[in-house]
Amino acid sequence: MLVHQAEPYNAESPPGALVGSITPLDAFYGRNHAPIPRIDPESWRLRVEGLVDRPLELSLEELRHRFGERSVVATLQCAGNRRADLIEVRDIPGQVPWGPGAVSTACWSGASLADVLAEARVRPEAAHIAFTGADLSQQAEPPQPFGGSVPVAKATSSEVLLAWSMNGQPLPTAHGAPLRVVVPGWIGARSVKWLQCVTALAEPSDNYFQSEYSVLPPEADPHRAKPGDGITLGPITIHCAILQPGKDARLPSGPTEITGFALAGDNRTVARVDVTADHGNTWTRADLDPPENPWTWQHWRTTLTLPPGGIELIARAWDSTAAVQPESPATVWNPRGYANEAAAHLRITCRP
Ligand code: MTE
Repeated sequence: MLVHQAEPYNAESPPGALVGSITPLDAFYGRNHAPIPRIDPESWRLRVEGLVDRPLELSLEELRHRFGERSVVATLQCAGNRRADLIEVRDIPGQVPWGPGAVSTACWSGASLADVLAEARVRPEAAHIAFTGADLSQQAEPPQPFGGSVPVAKATSSEVLLAWSMNGQPLPTAHGAPLRVVVPGWIGARSVKWLQCVTALAEPSDNYFQSEYSVLPPEADPHRAKPGDGITLGPITIHCAILQPGKDARLPSGPTEITGFALAGDNRTVARVDVTADHGNTWTRADLDPPENPWTWQHWRTTLTLPPGGIELIARAWDSTAAVQPESPATVWNPRGYANEAAAHLRITCRP
């Protein structure tokens, strides 16, 4: 792992861990805003409350027995992934300088959130479902548990889980045990770990992290910004990464295999990935794996004949709505460094 901070623990997956369809548990990235909370699984209960007719309080055993288990393969991606490329455009002080590894894929298993909300009987005036974790973050103003919300339509989609298992193993403490939300296709911040409470609300959550995860205009001062000043992030947008060759690789010139993955976000799929080694004069269409489902990355590969010298490889992905990645991180620079959806750039050197 590439550890950015030991406490709170923030570490990205090494590129070699992202080549498989599923990321091993010990290589799955970790993103935290507070120390990992201590939770006694015996006394732990999930509360479901707010604009519901029948508030619930459920142990893990009750959740398992009353709602059964479903599994969904889904990629989790932090909204700060690839902030390092934005920092090269203009500094972003005080934020973790994530490279391209704040993204990983797991097979998640747990109860369907829609089933739990149906049992609680969400009232028609509820428009958002908020999640609150057990970790108290001093980064928040004022200090508060990590939380956030998604609209009722997403919360009641069949892919959204209250997960107690990851890759067939009990959910690791570092990834939210005893229970976390998994909101496939949305920024990782909405997949709240160490879940304590699910609340039906008329408005989005007022948790600090709901509005912190937003794209501010370039001229804004992130320390003075108020909720509502930015574009609140939710569904992730089309993204791709080059996995092979590695950053700053030195290789022989000639036919070279280039591989990577692309992730469309929300309910979209990846339609196409193009790669260039000549600044976009010519683009080669990569072979793209079919989607496992809309919420999971799709790996791709192509072979380019590379000349000797310094080369910049660029890969850009298109989604199923024909949205394409902007070419440069400068286009999407924002003061908190979120949602860098620019095309992937990688410099290598080819020997004669
Ligand atoms: N949930 C809690 N309770 N506390 C957190 O700090 N971080 C969020 C989300 N859920 C966070 C959380 C963010 S920003 C991301 S990207 C994902 O968890 C990361 O999940 P992981 O650490 O399991 O990879």
